[in-house]
Amino acid sequence: MKDYLSAGASWVLISILALVISCQPKETTTGLLATNAMVVSAHPLASEVGNEILKQGGNAVDAAVAVHMALAVVYPQAGNIGGGGFMVVRKADGSYHSLDYREKAPMAAERDMYLDENGDALPEKSQNGHLASGVPGSVDGMVKAHEKLGSMEWAKLIDPAIKLAAEGFPLTENEASYYTRASENLKKYSSVDPVHFTGKAWKEGDVFVQPQLATTLTLIRDHGREGFYGGSVADFIVAEMERGGGIISHEDLTNYESAWRTPLVGAYKDATVITMGPPSSGGLILLQMLGILEDYPISNKNTAYAEYLHLKTEMERRIFADRAAYMGDADFFPVPVSGLLDKAYLSQRFEDFDPELATPSDRIMEGNVLTMSEETTHFSIVDSQGNAVSCTTTLNGGMGSKVLVDGAGFILNNEMDDFSIKPGFPNMFGVLGGEANKIEPGKRMLSSMTPTILEKNGELYMVVGTPGGSTIPTSVFQAIVNVMDFDMSMQEAVNENRFHSQWKPDVIAYEKEFANNEILELLQAKGHELVERGGIGRVDAILVREDGQLEGAADPRGMDAASGY
Ligand code: DON
Repeated sequence: MKDYLSAGASWVLISILALVISCQPKETTTGLLATNAMVVSAHPLASEVGNEILKQGGNAVDAAVAVHMALAVVYPQAGNIGGGGFMVVRKADGSYHSLDYREKAPMAAERDMYLDENGDALPEKSQNGHLASGVPGSVDGMVKAHEKLGSMEWAKLIDPAIKLAAEGFPLTENEASYYTRASENLKKYSSVDPVHFTGKAWKEGDVFVQPQLATTLTLIRDHGREGFYGGSVADFIVAEMERGGGIISHEDLTNYESAWRTPLVGAYKDATVITMGPPSSGGLILLQMLGILEDYPISNKNTAYAEYLHLKTEMERRIFADRAAYMGDADFFPVPVSGLLDKAYLSQRFEDFDPELATPSDRIMEGNVLTMSEETTHFSIVDSQGNAVSCTTTLNGGMGSKVLVDGAGFILNNEMDDFSIKPGFPNMFGVLGGEANKIEPGKRMLSSMTPTILEKNGELYMVVGTPGGSTIPTSVFQAIVNVMDFDMSMQEAVNENRFHSQWKPDVIAYEKEFANNEILELLQAKGHELVERGGIGRVDAILVREDGQLEGAADPRGMDAASGY
């Protein structure tokens, strides 16, 4: 009897305890909090460099230049001076700016340069080696950003990167094994074996020193854009091209210009969304998705989440079909920006949405969206004045063209693959294109990069972006929705499992960690094909919380880190 009582009593106790535990509010996960300023980037050393510049009184654009250059040293798989990117800036005075420093096709490029004599596509040539590179834009971009919006002395912003390249930095275990694996490709595609990179099997703790890159960065520090597009660095690039059958010329380098563009500005509920327009498709896709979503009530509670994912997928398949037909470099093709964002167009586009059933995308083309690596890089910065920078930059694939410019010590992009190399032939992210994104000399290839800033009531609210090829706009979309609709902290929004769909291939890709079979079965019941894949994107974001603190959220999928004060 005693035993029974005590057993009963302990059951009651356990039940009460369980009730108490289940009534506890779910513990929130919060990113790094700081009261003044914040940098979130793909590498802890780069975030530190940015934070130091901010502490010295530099503004967000100063820090962005320093972080960009530091990433070119410590994150060579995507950080770069041999690639390009996009920067969106919201100044504390409420003005918006967006800088397009996307690579351009060399003047000798031709529409059919990646087709063989039978007209078959040659993706090996658009993706690897010397012919895969567009004319790099990063150095001109950083110079232009600094000239217009920077405040500190240029040299001070480049010095930290020079030091990291000259003195080296110790590799983590993951970096060491990545570098060792990447060496095979660098050896194969560079015209001269870059032995400082490929000469050993890297181990954790090894110090990676890049003397040629230190010299190139010193020339950029001392001569600005001329230090890269002229003089010995330009000679090294052109010599590399000549040895490897590439087509970038001195004239291409001299003529490269990044461009200030009018940012795309849209609204989602009570937030204003400031993002990148053409030649990126990212901002357009993001605003189209948010524009449609606004008319639908959504929830992430229980099975309602499957309804949201179905809705999201149906938006993605229609919008990525628009991407293929209408989006390209607006300097060459009349991209119907306002038409694509028009509310009436979006409602009409979504008229045939069936909440119960998937609309099959006509399955004639398979892409390889499921195997991409996350080798672009994004960083978000807010300074103590409230200026904000959202910047995404890339070589395109991991280590770009895998050509390391002998003598100059940096890797060139393989951005030419972002053009439509043949109508209907998918690029390395499985996305399609045609006339709007065909190759033309001097044209910029269509991008998906989506550096974005949100404001609410005229005040800075969020800075967000990510790598991930075609998954970029949909990951940015999810981060925003997770915070604004699902009440998550910035860190929780970043950590949350991601899903992606893009018209073709006609599947929903989901991260393999996602363990909710009920949701997956509900989606299958609506006719969706589901495909598991590794991590989608690396969202690095900053939220201005209601208490005024900055929450820096670094994506745990990579070695990304926040640093603030
Ligand atoms: O501009 C673009 O959309 C691509 N070149 C981005 C590549 C990328 O994000 C690679 N990482 N997955």
